[in-house]
Amino acid sequence: MDKDESMANAADFRQLGHRVVDLLADYLEGVEQQPLFPAIEPSELRKLLDEPLPQRGTDPERILDELRIKLLPYCTNVNHPGYYGLMTPTPAPIGVLADFIASAINQNVGSYVIAPSATEMERRTMRWLTELVGFGPAAGGNFTSGGTLANLIAVKLGRDFTSDHSTQKLGVQKTMTVYASEERHVSIDKAVDMAGLGRANLRALPTDDEFRVRLDALDRVIAEDRGKGLHPAVLVGIAGTTNTGSVDPLPELAALAKREGMWFHVDAAYGGGVLLSGQRPGLLKGLELADSITLDPHKWFYAPLDAGAVLVRDEKFLTASFGMVPPYLKADPDRYQFYIHGFEQSRRFRSLKVWMAFKQYGAEGIGRWIDRNIRHAERLYELASRDSQIEAVNKPLMSAICLRFRSGDAELHRRVVAAVEREGRFWVSTTLLKGRPAIRVNPINFRTTERDIEDLFQALKEKHREFHQG
Ligand SMILES: Cc1ncc(COP(=O)(O)O)c(C=O)c1O
Repeated sequence: MDKDESMANAADFRQLGHRVVDLLADYLEGVEQQPLFPAIEPSELRKLLDEPLPQRGTDPERILDELRIKLLPYCTNVNHPGYYGLMTPTPAPIGVLADFIASAINQNVGSYVIAPSATEMERRTMRWLTELVGFGPAAGGNFTSGGTLANLIAVKLGRDFTSDHSTQKLGVQKTMTVYASEERHVSIDKAVDMAGLGRANLRALPTDDEFRVRLDALDRVIAEDRGKGLHPAVLVGIAGTTNTGSVDPLPELAALAKREGMWFHVDAAYGGGVLLSGQRPGLLKGLELADSITLDPHKWFYAPLDAGAVLVRDEKFLTASFGMVPPYLKADPDRYQFYIHGFEQSRRFRSLKVWMAFKQYGAEGIGRWIDRNIRHAERLYELASRDSQIEAVNKPLMSAICLRFRSGDAELHRRVVAAVEREGRFWVSTTLLKGRPAIRVNPINFRTTERDIEDLFQALKEKHREFHQG
């Protein structure tokens, strides 16, 4: 047997596969002892990885050794209990293994013929999500690379719906306007651009003291746009803002969109997880009134990247927007073809990790992790409310909380966060809220304990004291 054949041999795969699982189990077991954020400059990493394209093969054992030296020590350890930074969860272990399985069987869920059982499993998983948000039996949806693509698909659906589906053929014939709050995620801006609507036609609306879109401003701006002969097309509500987990008044927005003949999209990329919470029943009331919803399992459902999703009240909107059937792909009504009911053609079997996580932990089990993360944010709020140095900017509804030093400018906030990061126990991010600096803490982490959160609070105070006095 020559070398190439031996690489495809099941026994070799088994042996190497066990090694990989051992490597990862060791990594997960030791991750808490590792610094959370690697102390290495990009130039050093480039030097470490600088090599020409390998012309000859290498023993896989040596490749794993290289990973031990060049990759694992320089990861940002989202599996560490102190990770509360940008929205990437500690991945549920079953989801990690699910991705491994999905790669091995390599089903292409775009097309039924390359993924019969996977297609139906994906549909079932999507059904669980559409039922969770309160959509009825006509609903459908797509798993996507993330919230960014989900928001893009939703804005395009809104564009097509409000132009009687002429835009797909003719392009944009009139000025269509989109409305979202100043607290929207930047992916909304990108979506408006990519859908050909033009970012100048996106209206960024002010928010109230709890960072929810202001309805009075929305009414006024829509009326002004109508007065100018423009065409209000898409209204975006946010169910869980990136900074503070705030929830726009969804029932009121739904009514307004209906009155104005607009498409109502809700970005619940982060906040959708709260639907599993026992502590916050009814927080997303009105979500079920949306035409489309972004909800990302790779955020607060603890799925490893990537698994975003766009959910649609009626699947026929997806089909109307994307349902082209080229001659090399045959359609058979009984064989569900995701490529006809969505944008992406070749696509990874993303739902498997969501399906397996729901099966292993149950919606209640995942909900308990979510409630613990909410409790972590509440604990920070309690600590800040009786502290002389730190104040809370928002009362947390979800697990996102912004803190601010009672004295100190943006530079001081940045320096404190950088110093905490250098110590390697915690990773938090900085942001601006209504133009003022804040420290954003966002546990989406089932390894975090209340003690970790209290230690973070102390670490922020210590660094602040050091820099403020120094
Ligand atoms: C509210 C919201 N929407 C959309 C996104 C974009 O999601 P993704 O990073 O999965 O593309 C994010 C990311 O944090 C978000 O917070």
